[in-house]
Parts: sequence; C-alpha cells; structure tokens
Amino acid sequence: MTIFSVQSTIFSRASVALLSSNGFKRFSFASSFSSAAVYSPPLPKMKKRRYPIVSAVDIGGVTIARNDVVREDDPTNNVPDSIFSKLGVQLHRRDKHPIGIIKNAIYDYFDNNYSKMFDKIEDLSPIVTTKQNFDDVLVPADHVSRSLNDTYYVDSQTVLRCHTSAHQAELLRKGHRRFLVTGDVYRRDSIDSTHYPVFHQMEGFCVFSPEDWKESGMDSTLYAAEDLKKCLEGLASHLFGAVEMRWVDTYFPFTNPSFELEIYFKDDWLEVLGCGVTEQGILKQSGLENNVAWAFGLGLERLAMVLFDIPDIRLFWSDDERFTSQFAEGDFGVKFKPFSKYPPCYKDISFWISESFTENNFCEVVRGIAGDLVEESKVRDEVESKLNVELR
Ligand code: DAH
Repeated sequence: MTIFSVQSTIFSRASVALLSSNGFKRFSFASSFSSAAVYSPPLPKMKKRRYPIVSAVDIGGVTIARNDVVREDDPTNNVPDSIFSKLGVQLHRRDKHPIGIIKNAIYDYFDNNYSKMFDKIEDLSPIVTTKQNFDDVLVPADHVSRSLNDTYYVDSQTVLRCHTSAHQAELLRKGHRRFLVTGDVYRRDSIDSTHYPVFHQMEGFCVFSPEDWKESGMDSTLYAAEDLKKCLEGLASHLFGAVEMRWVDTYFPFTNPSFELEIYFKDDWLEVLGCGVTEQGILKQSGLENNVAWAFGLGLERLAMVLFDIPDIRLFWSDDERFTSQFAEGDFGVKFKPFSKYPPCYKDISFWISESFTENNFCEVVRGIAGDLVEESKVRDEVESKLNVELR
C-alpha cells in the first residue's frame, strides 16, 4: 500500500499539517515557484485613489498631519498622498536595510579615518523652507530645480527638501564644523528602474581654518580640493575595493571648483557623488569668511544598487520578505538574489516513502513536471512509524 498525500497552499507559507500519526517516515516538501527573474512592482488596481490615505506621519517624534502637507485647495501645493506616506519612513535609519547598511559603512569610514570628528545627523525634518533648500546654498532664482515641475511644494515658501545640502547653512550657524547629514530627499522625476521620487542622500561638510592649510604652504582652495578628493577616493575604496575611478569637472551653485566622482562599474562610468570647495558666500553667512570648506552629496540608493547588485530602485521600498531577508546589519558583502515579480506560491506535499527513496529522485519528478519554475525544494518534516505497513 502506498500512502500519498498532497497539500498545496497558494499565496501563503503554511507548512503541512501532520497526518494521522501512524508513524511512517514521511517527508514534507515546500517549493516556491517563480516565473520571472527580475522584480517589477505589482500592477496597480484602477481605483480612484490608489494609495491608502495616511492621515498623519511621525518624523523624529513630531506628528505631521496630512492636511498640513497635502492641500488640494492650494495651487502651489503639489504633494500627492503617495509622497506624503513616505515622510517619516526613514529607510536610512534601518540597520538591516541596504540603505542603513551603506550609511553605517560610510560612518565607519569617517569614524576610523577622522577619529569620530564628524557629527552625524540623520533625523532632520525633510520639510524645509525655500530659503534653506535654495537661497542659503546660493541656488539662482531662475534655476530649474526651483520649479513646481521638479520640486514638491507644500506652499510657496515650503518644500520637501530636494537635497541634503538644504541643511548646510543651518548646521554651520549652529556651530557644526565637520558633519554628515543623512536624510530622505524628494524630487519629481521620470519613472524607471533608477529613479524614484524619494531617495536618500548623505551630505558631508568639513571646515578648515587658516592654520590647517598654512602649514602645507598651499593655496586654501587647492588644499581643500586635494583633501576632499583624498577623502572620497578613500571612501570609494572602502566601499567598493579596488575600483577604477575618475574625477569630472562640473557645476554646482554651492561649490567652486565642483567635481563629480565616477566609478567604473559593469562596463560603464557611473556618477556616484557631487562635491566641491564651498562657495565663500555660504561660509560668510555663518561668520566663517576666513575659512575654507569642502562639501559632498552622495546618493545612497546609487551606491547600494552598485554594492548589492540591486537592479531596481523601487525594491528599496519593498516589505517583501524575499527582499528584506537578504540583508543583515553590518554586512555589505552580500549580492542581491533576484526573485519573482509575482507573490510566492508554496506547494507542500507529504507522502510515505520506501527504503529506496532518495531526495534527488523526488527532485527529478518535480523538475519533470514543473521544470525551472520551481525555485527551491526543501524537506520540512520527517515522521517515522514503527507500524508495519507494506509499502509497494
Ligand atoms: N546637492 C547636490 C545634488 O543633490 C549634491 C552636492 C554637490 C552636494 C556638491 C554638495 C556638493 O554638498 O558640494 O545633486
């Protein structure tokens, strides 16, 4: 007699219920099926409002009501519910999330190389004034980033910060001289696998006083630029190992000279950060006209996509266990394993086996039926019986 029992469970991870305990040796297998290898978000349902309306969010202990940020009656307000719901999520503060892991790896680099001299700030509200976001860092009045097309406006004087540079001036005013500010930033942008309207940046800032550069005999700007490049090349090596990198001259309103650092990755040059020697106008606002400073702003998603091999920026927002379980605190050596864009479908099967049974034989049967759709087959349970039942 052969006893064979199958339990299948669709869209859930139920493990097989034990059958009547007559005690034969029984294996239970769990297989998860997949049909495509690369993630893409599930198709939306065509409802009037796709996003559940979140009525309030908590940002660093401060409650922000939806009505303060999403205002349908104000023509200068262009913040949708989908964006409001991201305020306060702060992926950068999750130590087991790729964004938090990379932030901590950068912290380690600065702690080790600069004896913990950089202040770390990561809970500043992303709701800032246009003065903070633009004027304080010398963004010209006609700069494209000020438009309603590029930036989320709460009202005519208030925006969701579009870069962490928005905090440079206020932190200098408060007396910080070396700091790293990390936070979520918001930009209206195109839709594809490398763009998302919310992402995370880290801003670095370092002020030097005359005695720092006088000793070197160098001009202050050259001194700061060389120090900046040395610091960031060291950071890139810390994160990526021996990669090829190059500096590209560019323009930012807040720095002069300005540079971008590119690293050679997967047959292409990839921009990973912007930086430069801070404009004197910014230092002057805080009474630091006799000083020189460097600053940089780097995109944490960009770095994490390269480091962990994550193919789609939207994955960072996934709560799917198949994504979240792949990362561990402090581990920036793992490579992301793609999974199906469909929800997992588990099939649990229990059956009695004879002496001649082998797991490989079972796998051959599964492969014969379902081919490569089966991601994994695992023994979940074994039961042995002393009852004497003839197996044929
Ligand atoms: N704020 C820039 C951006 O979001 C990045 C950046 C460039 C920051 C140069 C800096 C800097 O501090 O010096 O694109």
